Amino acid sequence: MISKCLFPAAGYGTRFLPATKAMPKEMMPILDEPLIQYGVEEALASGMDHIAIVTGRNKRAIEDHFDINFELEHQINGTAKEDKLKSIRNLIKKCTFSYTRQMEMKGLGHAILTGETLIGAEPFGVILADDLCVGEPEPVMSQMVRLFDQQPACIIAIEEVPMSEVHKYGVIDAEDLGNGVYKVNDMVEKPSIEDAPGNLAIIGRYILLPEIFDVLRSTELGKSGELQITDALNTLAKQGKVLALKFNGKRFDCGSVSGFVDATNYFFEKLKNN
Ligand code: UTP
Repeated sequence: MISKCLFPAAGYGTRFLPATKAMPKEMMPILDEPLIQYGVEEALASGMDHIAIVTGRNKRAIEDHFDINFELEHQINGTAKEDKLKSIRNLIKKCTFSYTRQMEMKGLGHAILTGETLIGAEPFGVILADDLCVGEPEPVMSQMVRLFDQQPACIIAIEEVPMSEVHKYGVIDAEDLGNGVYKVNDMVEKPSIEDAPGNLAIIGRYILLPEIFDVLRSTELGKSGELQITDALNTLAKQGKVLALKFNGKRFDCGSVSGFVDATNYFFEKLKNN
């Protein structure tokens, strides 16, 4: 059973400036729910009710969101608007939340290592809330948990992207094992088209074994002077300990304006058709 899910949420969100100057990008709403709430709902639906969040400066709104606001609750108790708080109340009731701060934004790998204190020595999920996933029919993290239950290993979610976009992602070189599962042999962070081993790109969902922390500690800083999770996972891939899952569903890169707009349109259409 994997009960903990880590949310690295300390990044600056420079692709979305100026909106993210004072507001965490994870709090930007798709319709009326912030991105990170969709992520926590996915974690809970996948059996993970210990939510561990790596925050940073200017991210206080995330902690406030997953807490009770007594004045507000008092104001709307018993009114028609009370229903609007149903989804967040449900998460607060069912999950526990813990936080730690990343003091210097030294990359996703560094953010995950910062989360060690909240995770300890057990396998855990990682959700990047700005990659909003809609699993079909089950949540993407839940699809990954099912694979982990059959084959305990580090598991990364992947999707096919156009070759013109590989430079934005970690890209894998892997052996197809069938049913959407791949054994990862090599991984490259943000390669040029010439250097890319293919077009299977890593997106923001991982299941990691706790040994990743030691590997991260001994990994050198990579692209852009940041500690890259891709580099650490590559060490484990070389030992045959990394699987990739081509999940069923959609993903929206809500860290970019176009992905954010696509997600908004998708969820609005869904709402209208319900
Ligand atoms: P991104 O690559 O999207 O970086 O991080 P970013 O800084 O948030 O956004 P841009 O590229 O400047 O627009 C992927 C995830 O890793 C987290 C981010 O919060 C995001 O969820 N992250 C990244 C950290 O927590 N710490 C870091 O040092 C870097």
